Parts: sequence; C-alpha cells; structure tokens
Amino acid sequence: MTPSAYHKPVLRDEAVRQLVTDPFGTYVDGTLGGGGHAAQILQQLSGDARLYAIDQDEEAIAHVAEHFADEERLILLRGNFGYLDVLLPREVHGGVDGILLDLGVSSHQIDEPGRGFSFQKDGPLDMRMGSLQTRTAADIVNTYEYKDLRDLLFQYGEERESVRIARAIINARPLETTEQLRDVVSGVIPERFRNKSLARVFQALRIEVNGELQMLRRILEKGHELLRENGRFVVITYHSLEDRLCKNFFRYGNFGGDPVKDFYGNEIRPMEVLHKKIITPTDEEKAENPRARSAKLRVAAKNPVTHIGRHPNDDAVNKRRGTL
Ligand SMILES: C[S@@+](CC[C@H](N)C(=O)[O-])C[C@H]1O[C@@H](n2cnc3c(N)ncnc32)[C@H](O)[C@@H]1O
Repeated sequence: MTPSAYHKPVLRDEAVRQLVTDPFGTYVDGTLGGGGHAAQILQQLSGDARLYAIDQDEEAIAHVAEHFADEERLILLRGNFGYLDVLLPREVHGGVDGILLDLGVSSHQIDEPGRGFSFQKDGPLDMRMGSLQTRTAADIVNTYEYKDLRDLLFQYGEERESVRIARAIINARPLETTEQLRDVVSGVIPERFRNKSLARVFQALRIEVNGELQMLRRILEKGHELLRENGRFVVITYHSLEDRLCKNFFRYGNFGGDPVKDFYGNEIRPMEVLHKKIITPTDEEKAENPRARSAKLRVAAKNPVTHIGRHPNDDAVNKRRGTL
C-alpha cells in the first residue's frame, strides 16, 4: 500500500513549512500514521538531520519501515507520544527544533472494520490505537456506571442526548460490536440527527479508550521542555476539545486559559503564538479530502526562558550598564 492510500496527509505542505526552520536540525513527528508528513519533512532535511517518528500503532510503524527501509535520517519509535521524554534519547533533550502532531486516527485505522473505529462498518468494539493498551471500547460500554458513561458522552462527545443514550446502552448490555452499539443509539435518536450522534458517541469512546486528552496535555508540557529555544510546536487538531488545549497552552502555558504572572507582574508566556489567525485547509483540499474539513493548524515557538521573572525595567537598566 502506498503512503497516500494508507492516509492522505492534511495540510501537509503548510504544516511542514511551519515546522522546518533548520534543514540540519532534529525533528519529531509524534503521529507518524502513513508517513505522509514524515516524507515531506525528510524532503526538507539535509544529510545530517534527524527525524524521530512515533506511533503507538504497530501497523503504522511496519508500513513506514517498509517504505523507508534505506532512510538513515528517520528513527522509528513505537510508543505513546505522551511519553516523548522517555522515547527520545537523552542527548537530544532540549535540542529539538520542531515537533509535529497530526492528531486523531488515520484513514487506515478508520477503514479497518476490525479496529472498531467506524459506526459505518461492523466490527468488534475495540478502538485501541495500538495493542499497547489493554482497555477496549467494549470494556467501557459494558462496565462503566450510568453516571460515568453519561458524563463521558457529554464531555468528550459534546452529545446533548447523553442521558438517553447512556441509559439505552446500560439496558442493552452486553454490547460487543459496533453494529450493536449503532442499533442502540439509533433506537433513541431520530433519524435526521442519528449520524451526528453516532459520530459523537464513537468520538467520545475513542477519546476515552486512548486517553487522548491526557496524552495531549502530557506531550504539550514535555514537548515544551524538550524543544530548544525558538523550537516549534506545529499541531493539527480535528475537534474542539483538543484544539482548546493547544490554544490555551500556546497562549498561556496552561490548559485552563488563565494568564499567569510572575512576582513583578509580567505575564509568563512559555510559548509565542506564531499565527494569531489559525491556519485551515483550502476549499480545494476540503473538497478532495473530507477529513480535512475540521482541521485547524496551530503553530507556536518556545520563548527563551530568560523572560520569566524579569523585571520590566531590567532591559533598560542593562542597556544603561552596557550588558545588553
Ligand atoms: C491522523 S494520523 C497521522 C497521519 C500522518 N500525519 C500521515 O501523514 O500519514 C494519526 C496517527 O497518530 C497515531 N497516534 C495518535 N495518538 C497517538 C499517541 N498518543 N501516541 C502515538 N501515536 C498516536 C495514530 O495511531 C495514527 O496513526
């Protein structure tokens, strides 16, 4: 299978243009998938550069390993990007020039009925992105208490009918397949709203199975530590929950979206947002690739640590002393 048959990369050229600032640098692709972004990154890099590419899905790693067998600049790492600090060799900590994340699942994962990601195909209620995890979607729908299931659908799926759907799931237990879950949701949601509700229910379960938001928070914090000064985070998000986490972290250095001030009253901003206006795919790309429709690209650069705890007058004082 060619890389583009496995997954068509979204915002490929723009994301890579934002990421690569030094062709001799060290980069991380945290979501390798079919390797479409990775291939484009490698095209921009010189002989000595390094690209560490991570995926928790062994199928993605095997697919890319086959296509890039002779590529010495590419180091494939199987694992969760949330543990980037453990996956990356110590010698590159603090020296990473850019980290790319293209969040969510690949077309290959969605298209495989056996992975259980799609309500349009019958398969086991699995939804694990990789076999490193043990808990499946079936474990969640069959064991969570009513209140936890309801909250999960409401918070991660932003599903307004979470009460009705959670009750119906509990009454229909045990559920083993995507078709069974689809029938349960269809039984309580009118036809004209059904597909949207199904998409939200499946999204909520996928986020929970894979701990997606926890891992995103972790890589944003750890990734920030691993970047060099002015190193870049480039993230493509597909739903509002993950997008909000990135937006807040890039703007305020925390996930709640509250400005934090130091002792002198300066706002502490660990990152500089590089595009105040978010980058989205062109109409042409959206028409060609339905997955691109909800994509948002955010870019931020790591601020030098020195601005934290610096008094507003420091620069003026140092200039007078001739030390700046
Ligand atoms: C949207 S696809 C990436 C597609 C890729 N950019 C390309 O051009 O083909 C997302 C990939 O990231 C992986 N992934 C998602 N979350 C992950 C995580 N927390 N750790 C490691 N891999 C993850 C998925 O398994 C999937 O293969």
